[in-house]
Amino acid sequence: MHSGYALLSSVLLVLLALSIITLVPRMPSPQSFFRSPPPRLINSRVPHPSDASDCIFSDGKWVRDAAAVTAYREDCPFLDPGFQCISNGRSNSSFRYWRWQPHGCQLPKGNYFMVGDRLNMSMDIKEAFRWSLETVKDWEISSTRVPNSYFFFRSYSPSHYRFNATDMLERSRNGRIVFAGDSIGRNQWESMVCMLAASVPAGKSRIYEQSGKPISRHKGYLAMVFAEYNLSVEYYRAPMLVMIDRFPASSGAVRGAVRLDLLPRHANRWAGADVLVFNTGHWWNEHKTIKSGNYFMVGDRLNMSMDIKEAFRWSLETVKDWEISSTRVPNSYFFFRSYSPSHYSSDQFDEEYSWINAMISNAIDGIRSHGRRKAHFLNITYMTELRRDGHPSRNREPRTPQDAPEDCSHWCLPGVPDTWNED
Ligand SMILES: *[C@@H]1O[C@H](CO)[C@@H](O)[C@H](O)[C@H]1NC(C)=O
Ligand SMILES: *[C@@H]1O[C@H](CO)[C@@H](O)[C@H](O)[C@H]1NC(C)=O
Ligand SMILES: *[C@@H]1O[C@H](CO)[C@@H](O)[C@H](O)[C@H]1NC(C)=O
Ligand SMILES: *[C@@H]1O[C@H](CO)[C@@H](O)[C@H](O)[C@H]1NC(C)=O
Ligand SMILES: *[C@@H]1O[C@H](CO)[C@@H](O)[C@H](O)[C@H]1NC(C)=O
Ligand SMILES: *[C@@H]1O[C@H](CO)[C@@H](O)[C@H](O)[C@H]1NC(C)=O
Repeated sequence: MHSGYALLSSVLLVLLALSIITLVPRMPSPQSFFRSPPPRLINSRVPHPSDASDCIFSDGKWVRDAAAVTAYREDCPFLDPGFQCISNGRSNSSFRYWRWQPHGCQLPKGNYFMVGDRLNMSMDIKEAFRWSLETVKDWEISSTRVPNSYFFFRSYSPSHYRFNATDMLERSRNGRIVFAGDSIGRNQWESMVCMLAASVPAGKSRIYEQSGKPISRHKGYLAMVFAEYNLSVEYYRAPMLVMIDRFPASSGAVRGAVRLDLLPRHANRWAGADVLVFNTGHWWNEHKTIKSGNYFMVGDRLNMSMDIKEAFRWSLETVKDWEISSTRVPNSYFFFRSYSPSHYSSDQFDEEYSWINAMISNAIDGIRSHGRRKAHFLNITYMTELRRDGHPSRNREPRTPQDAPEDCSHWCLPGVPDTWNED
């Protein structure tokens, strides 16, 4: 721009200022896990501005952030040794310095850039920012009253950590947050427990397992109680979400049954939760089922010929029917997390996740169509796919045999699952 346009520029500046003033209060938070719908999960009378923006949480990019601060540290007492990668010999913590920047979150929905009297629907943020700086610059240069002023323009103040655990704890008072799924669901649960625990002032509150079970227990369920808040954050081991029955060794080649029409026995405890986070995926392959002697079963009949996709569809129907018919669920937030990709070089399973995600997303649509607006497909697959660096890989827990394979499916903590929770 030229100084001849100074008048126009100042008008633009005023417009810009006005638009900032009017936009800022409505600045959307990223569409995400606990933010949209917002995290006032419990005791809330505030209507949530869901879908208030064009922000797509599932799509975006990881931004290097050297100043990133993790919500908790690796010595959080609720972490499995297998996720404590630095203790297990990983020398490089650079994987922690990334921030997920969801796509299109910068502008409130329906607000476009305008130059002169023309809206420009296609201008991108950077271009628009450059424009706005030109406007400021032209004004600075041409304003006759400015030359004697000191003029400072402060640089960007990095927003270190956006998740407000104190806030979440407050809003979750007297509540239950339940995770059910496979070991990666446990990974995410541990992340959540540590994120919340980190904001509990030391010595002020007790955090303990409801019935005194050790955190190292990997069967059944664990419920961490935040006494100060009367909140419990629970994990139920349910790798396929539906029931898996083991048969006695005498039953020959059939070692177990994946009972597609039944939920696990402990599922009766899921229903009263205020927030439910489900996941499954890594067990839905031939290796974990048929090839290991675990066949699919509907009613009291084993079906030796049913294929994986068909079986998965059945299991989702079971979850869906439960969701829709459980009278205690309607007020709960229900999140079904998408597939968390692993990164083995010869990964034949991972190419499969698109059908898994498509079916989950479909099931959620089905649930939502029954008026369950608090059901959401939490799509973290793309962001997670990009984070090959976040796995324990060779740095597995102490006493892992030398020849054990690398772990390229779970996640180091603090790490990638924090982002699934945070947003
Ligand atoms: C999940 O999000 C990614 C990135 O936005 C998208 O490409 C993919 O289609 C989504 N998956 C489903 C099942 O919606
Ligand atoms: C850590 O890893 C990053 C990328 O993987 C690399 O750029 C950096 O040099 C490494 N730092 C050290 C100290 O090895
Ligand atoms: C909108 O902005 C882009 C640059 O971001 C420019 O190429 C395009 O010509 C502009 N369109 C209009 C209608 O001004
Ligand atoms: C976090 O939330 C609490 C309680 O709502 C509030 O008092 C505090 O200011 C918030 N902290 C930040 C950094 O926003
Ligand atoms: C604690 O929360 C539960 C619900 O999870 C509720 O039934 C109970 O009354 C609460 N206890 C107190 C002391 O508020
Ligand atoms: C087994 O499942 C297939 C669908 O995958 C179905 O066509 C077949 O009838 C079932 N067999 C029995 C014995 O139920």
